[in-house]
Amino acid sequence: MTSKCSWRAAMLAVASAILATAPFATAQIPTGQAPPHKAHPPATAESIAQGKQIFDGTCAVCHGIDGSGSNGPNIQGAARTMGPEGLYNRVWGGVIGSGMPSFSYLGEDKIWDVVDYVGTLGQANGGAVTGNPQAGKEVYASSGCSSCHSIDGKGGDSGPDLSNIGSERSATFMRDEILNPGTNKPNGEPGLTSRAAYGGYRMYKVTLEDGKTVTGTRVDESSFSLQLRDAHGNIISVDKLKAKSIDVLGDGSFMPSYKGKLSDAQVNGLVAYLATLEVKQ
Ligand code: HEC
Ligand code: HEC
Repeated sequence: MTSKCSWRAAMLAVASAILATAPFATAQIPTGQAPPHKAHPPATAESIAQGKQIFDGTCAVCHGIDGSGSNGPNIQGAARTMGPEGLYNRVWGGVIGSGMPSFSYLGEDKIWDVVDYVGTLGQANGGAVTGNPQAGKEVYASSGCSSCHSIDGKGGDSGPDLSNIGSERSATFMRDEILNPGTNKPNGEPGLTSRAAYGGYRMYKVTLEDGKTVTGTRVDESSFSLQLRDAHGNIISVDKLKAKSIDVLGDGSFMPSYKGKLSDAQVNGLVAYLATLEVKQ
C-alpha cells in the first residue's frame, strides 16, 4: 500500500515536472494556449468556404463530415460553448494526451477559417450576428446590464466582466444567456483564462434548521461556516453545522431573464454589440 502510494506520488511529481517545464523546454509542444495572434477577422462566406475545405480534409475523419462525431466528439455545439477564441486555442494546441492533435501548422488565417466553418456546424440559425450594434449599445445602457457587468473597467462586479466577451462567446451563446441565464454555465474551457473564476457565480441554497433558506453565490467557506452573497450584494454567514442541507443550484443565476422584456430586435442588437467587444491587440 505504502509503496504503491509513494510510487504514485513519484509519478505525479514527474508528470508535474514535465508539465511545468514543457512550455519552456520547447515552444513546439502544444499547451492549448495559443501565442498572441491577430484578432478574429469577421467571418465571410469565403472564410467559411475555405474552412469547410480544411475541415473536410483534416477534421472530418475524426469529427464526422457534419461535426456530429466519430473517433472524436460531436463538436456541433463547440462554437457555442467555446467561442471563437476558445476554438482557436483548441485547434492551435490540440488536447495533450487525447486523440486531438495540434494544428498550429495551419497558421493564423487558416485556423480562423476553420473556426468560422465550425461555427456553422449544426446551426441552421441563430449563429449569425444580425442586429445593429449601435442600437444594442443603447439597449445595454438602458437595461441595467452595467449594474452587474463591467466593460473596460466601468460597471458592477456581480456578473462576469464583458470587456472581451465577443472573443470568448458565440452569438448563440450570448443570445441564450440573455434569454435563459444560468442554463449556459460554461464548461470550464481552459483557454479562457478570464473565465477561470466562473465557479464564483455558482449558486448555493442553504436550508436552515427552521426551514428558512438562504440563496447566494459563495464568497468564502471554512470548516464551520459558509459566506454567501445574496441578490442585493449582502454577505450572509451561515453556520454549516446548523444547516439542514446545502445544495448547488446547477441552473441558478442572479441574472434576470430578458425573455419577453426585450424585443427580438433589441436582443439581436445587444448580441451584435457584445460581439464587438473583442480582445484588443
Ligand atoms: C485524429 C482525430 C482528430 C482529428 C484529426 C481532429 N480532432 Fe478534434 N478532437 C479529437 C478528440 C479525441 C477530441 C477530444 C479531446 C478531449 O479529450 O478533450 C477532440 C476535441 C476537439 C474539440 C473540443 C471539443 C469539446 O467540446 O471540448 C474541437 C473544437 C475540435 N476537436 C476541433 C477539431 C478541428 C477543427 C479539427 C481539424 C482542424 C480537429 N478537431 C481534428 C480528435 C480529432
Ligand atoms: C443582477 C445582475 C445581472 C444583470 C442585471 C445582468 N446580468 Fe448578465 N450575468 C450575471 C451573472 C451572475 C452571470 C453569470 C452566471 C450565469 O451564467 O448566469 C451573468 C452572465 C452573463 C453573460 C455570460 C458571460 C460569460 O462569460 O459567459 C452575458 C453575455 C451576460 N450576462 C449579459 C448580460 C446582459 C446583456 C445584460 C443586460 C441586458 C445582463 N447580463 C444583465 C448577472 C447579471
